[in-house]
Amino acid sequence: MTDFLKLCKERYSVRSFTDRKIEPEKLQKILEAGRVAPTAVNFQPQVIYVLQSPDAVSKMASVTPYMFGAPQALLVCWDENICWKNHRHEEDGHSAGEMDASIVLTQMMLQAQELGIGSCWVCSFDFKKTRELFNLPDNIKIAALMPIGYASAQGVPSDRHEKRKPLDETVRYL
Ligand SMILES: Cc1cc2nc3c(=O)[nH]c(=O)nc-3n(C[C@H](O)[C@H](O)[C@H](O)COP(=O)(O)O)c2cc1C
Repeated sequence: MTDFLKLCKERYSVRSFTDRKIEPEKLQKILEAGRVAPTAVNFQPQVIYVLQSPDAVSKMASVTPYMFGAPQALLVCWDENICWKNHRHEEDGHSAGEMDASIVLTQMMLQAQELGIGSCWVCSFDFKKTRELFNLPDNIKIAALMPIGYASAQGVPSDRHEKRKPLDETVRYL
């Protein structure tokens, strides 16, 4: 039985990958962990692009330095036409799409970790150029990119990994 908290603590952002591709059955399991994620009203607006062809991977690497040599990546998006719009939210019509996509991404990231596969959540890239490169329609919104694969010898935790605020700085009991 996996100790979930241990898994969470052991996961870190891998920023250097080998060129070893993920085995198809492991990739399938990672995608499955995202498939079963909760989403608002169960609308499941997520759209996941598996960038795995050399062409797709090099296109992605042309718009961000944060592919870190990974031979594949997940570009996690949501469909704005499908996701729930929260009309009771302060900002009228606030979409739950980014939250839904983030939960999907988190579950996939932790499933990857359990399989010994590293990842890094990446938002620092040009969304507009990415949209153009992959011909994404306007209703498909980009949440984040996640290069995934096997960590190279240089792919060790950064100093930030150990730096987490204590609970009393982030939790308020009311
Ligand atoms: C929303 C989000 C965006 C991030 N964007 C980037 C990024 O563009 N480039 C990068 O190298 N890391 C990125 N990260 C990784 C964080 O920097 C990292 O998770 C944090 O510093 C803690 O380190 P750890 O993941 O190793 O524990 C991002 C993480 C999140 C959650």
